Amino acid sequence: MDRPYILHMLTPGPWMSPFDVNMAADAGYQVIVPYCGVDVAATPNLTQDAIFSRGPKGVSRTGLFIGGRDVTQAVDMLDAARKAMVPPFVVSVMADPSGAFTTAAAMLACVRGQLRKAHGTDLDGRRVLVLGGTGPVGRIVAVLAARAGAQVRIASHKGQQVANETARAVSERFGAAVAGASSADAAALREALADTDVVLATAAAGVQVLSAEDLAAAGQKLLVAADVNAVPPEGIAGVGVMDDGKPVAGTQAVGIGALAVGNVKYQVQHQLLQRMRNAEKPLALSFDDAFALACELRAG
Ligand SMILES: NC(=O)c1ccc[n+]([C@@H]2O[C@H](COP(=O)([O-])OP(=O)(O)OC[C@H]3O[C@@H](n4cnc5c(N)ncnc54)[C@H](OP(=O)(O)O)[C@@H]3O)[C@@H](O)[C@H]2O)c1
Repeated sequence: MDRPYILHMLTPGPWMSPFDVNMAADAGYQVIVPYCGVDVAATPNLTQDAIFSRGPKGVSRTGLFIGGRDVTQAVDMLDAARKAMVPPFVVSVMADPSGAFTTAAAMLACVRGQLRKAHGTDLDGRRVLVLGGTGPVGRIVAVLAARAGAQVRIASHKGQQVANETARAVSERFGAAVAGASSADAAALREALADTDVVLATAAAGVQVLSAEDLAAAGQKLLVAADVNAVPPEGIAGVGVMDDGKPVAGTQAVGIGALAVGNVKYQVQHQLLQRMRNAEKPLALSFDDAFALACELRAG
């Protein structure tokens, strides 16, 4: 009998995301086991418990997935799992907490594609403002954009101090130069927007962070406005969920909506899980891998 494909899914939270369980099953995993309340300290023991029972052949049919809400904790758990493995007992591992790695990767790949297509330019040197940037998706899209050469500001509707603290934490942990900006009121938001080429809306579901008046005030500098909130109202007024390069009224920008991003996000997560399941050599997959794949998918 062939050994089944097993995915051990670890999360610090009280439950594993049903979305991720479905994705794992659709990628071909046959036995999917959630482990809840798992932190960085518990990760090495669980990892070693998962690797030693199946022999060198079985480890290629065994994977680890790391979820949760905290992107720093997820990366720390991924590192802890990798360090706990003992060759030749090494299994593939992937982190995607709250879908943030695959969503941020898909969002930025869509933005890069539209910068090239609509404006003949790239992320390098562009000024990027991330609204709702203190959440998991916002933090990772900020890191990816900074690594691609953009000048990135994370904005918080709680004000400059929270934005600065988040930007400092993100910069220190991920080695990316990110600054903070306030979006606490219309004046602060419009001041930040005036100097922005790309605005990314990554705030909580159902929250509109940019009104038509804000967009009008942004003026002609804005090149791309992208949103990942699929729950009405849209995160950016006038950018529909299906938009993918549609001109944004009153600006020279093009818009990208949540379902256009979601389509790429779905493919990225599905293909990374399949890669992990089919890998002959063990893989460790994080947000850089998700971004590379998302860019390939958008280019192809
Ligand atoms: N399209 C897709 O494929 C896809 C996949 C996954 C997630 N998503 C969406 O991606 C978005 C980001 O997800 P997430 O988990 O990172 O979000 P989150 O943690 O729930 O929220 C992100 C940020 O939104 C801001 N926020 C919360 N309530 C607000 C309010 N009332 N007014 C203004 N800002 C508010 C907060 O930042 P500040 O208070 O600091 O401003 C918060 O840190 C969500 O809309 C989610 O539904 C989309």
